[in-house]
Amino acid sequence: MRATWLTDIHLNFLRPLALQAFYERIASEQPQVLLVTGDIGEADSVVRYVTELARLAPIYFVLGNHDYYRSSIAAVRGAMERLDESATWLPAHEPMRITPKTMILGVDGWGDARCGDLESTVQLSDWKLIDDFKKAQHDRDLRIEICRRLGGNEARALRDKLELSAAAPQLLVLTHVPPFPEACVYAGEPSTPPWLPWFTCIGTGEILRAHAEAHPEQQILVLCGHSHGAGSFKPLPNLEVRTGGWPAGVQDYGNPLVQQTIEV
Ligand SMILES: [Fe+2]
Ligand SMILES: [Fe+2]
Repeated sequence: MRATWLTDIHLNFLRPLALQAFYERIASEQPQVLLVTGDIGEADSVVRYVTELARLAPIYFVLGNHDYYRSSIAAVRGAMERLDESATWLPAHEPMRITPKTMILGVDGWGDARCGDLESTVQLSDWKLIDDFKKAQHDRDLRIEICRRLGGNEARALRDKLELSAAAPQLLVLTHVPPFPEACVYAGEPSTPPWLPWFTCIGTGEILRAHAEAHPEQQILVLCGHSHGAGSFKPLPNLEVRTGGWPAGVQDYGNPLVQQTIEV
């Protein structure tokens, strides 16, 4: 099955003609399914974009932090649960079999403030633009607490989905936030300590590593994005994390790429 992977396409930055050209670029891959690892648009546009993408091929996706901008996490997730069956927001579903050997599952993931420099002065737009963070905009400790709670929820959801898919020979896991600091890449370099707390989900990484160790016969491919730099990290022989993004020096916002078309 030809599966075309997109991440961090931020389609709200495109004018109509550029958007149409990007849809044509995706169609030229002749995908049988689309795999999209978040940051598709913003809260007021993400339903429209996933519906349009689903006209090209059935879409399996997770959301990124930008998809919640100008709304709340609960409101956007509610809208995802009401999509029709051509667009599958994986967090709302149990693992699904997409080929005789391959199961797919996904969680959004969240930067869970469990690595890097917690004294970091990096300011994320998330804290101003997502309702859940507004009360913590000027309170670092509360912000860290919220990030850790969100990351913990994602890790538990991932653990439950992995338990249900242990028998599949191949597993495809979609998530937005890199689950290991080594998978967090920007402009060809590892992300630096001030960025890592917000760009890595340590909780989902712990769950993935434990599952892969317990099931050495299962091949697990994790697709993620968020850090906007392309990279690959293989913490175990049966676990590969591929981060999608742009080469160093190439414009990211307003310049969406097809990451890869893979055979699954
Ligand atoms: Fe992004
Ligand atoms: Fe992101």
